[in-house]
Amino acid sequence: MDYSELKIPRHVALIVDGNGRWAKERGMSRLRGHDAGFENLMTLSKYILSKGIEVLSLYVFSTENFKREKAEVAHLMELFVLMYRSKLREFQENNIRVVFSGRDEPLPAAVIKARDRLVAETANNTGGTINFCLNYGGRAEILDAVKKIVASGEEVRDWQEADFAHYLYQDLPDVDLMIRTSGELRLSNFLLWQNSYAEFYFPKTKFPDFHEADFDQAVLEYTKRDRRFGGINKK
Ligand code: FPP
Repeated sequence: MDYSELKIPRHVALIVDGNGRWAKERGMSRLRGHDAGFENLMTLSKYILSKGIEVLSLYVFSTENFKREKAEVAHLMELFVLMYRSKLREFQENNIRVVFSGRDEPLPAAVIKARDRLVAETANNTGGTINFCLNYGGRAEILDAVKKIVASGEEVRDWQEADFAHYLYQDLPDVDLMIRTSGELRLSNFLLWQNSYAEFYFPKTKFPDFHEADFDQAVLEYTKRDRRFGGINKK
């Protein structure tokens, strides 16, 4: 697709959904669905950032996902460590900066270690940012920001929204385009503050089958949307 004809969102948020159902449809265990999602994630992320999108937020594990079966949680944690270790060179070669949003507790120490190393080593890269939302919850993020502000003792009386946003996990631009794969029509506690004026796109495709051409369709749809931000479009 020729992106010069398209409106390019600055920040794309992606809820990686449908791995489990993708595997079940094929008579496989849910874990194989996560493996397939894992295989797709890096290729797709590189493609998205190569199109001039500045920030890609990926919802890969919510605070609520810890309620899943032990074996599934353990497998996902292994995949996170594997990705953060084995793909480090690929992030570097593609000049991608990696940041994380979410709470530490109760992430395994190996995940935290691999995460922190990846963040430190890619901190100066300038070819776009991936924001991994790992053990992330939108309400938790807002609550954690309030706690940080109270602990700082700052005077908040004259604050503007941007002053508050500064205390969120990452200081990133608002989301322009929010995509959730697999046909589910929910936000599921994802980037509640940042998604305020995002355009939503809900393809039926399950994540392991969501590839470059599917992303192109999302940006094409976004290009057609009339964004008014609560005002009147002067067009
Ligand atoms: C949602 O599908 C997917 C997840 C909760 C995990 C996403 C993780 C990956 C793609 C694995 C690799 C990622 C990294 C960063 C290494 P689901 O399990 O909710 O599927 P379902 O809705 O069909 O049950």
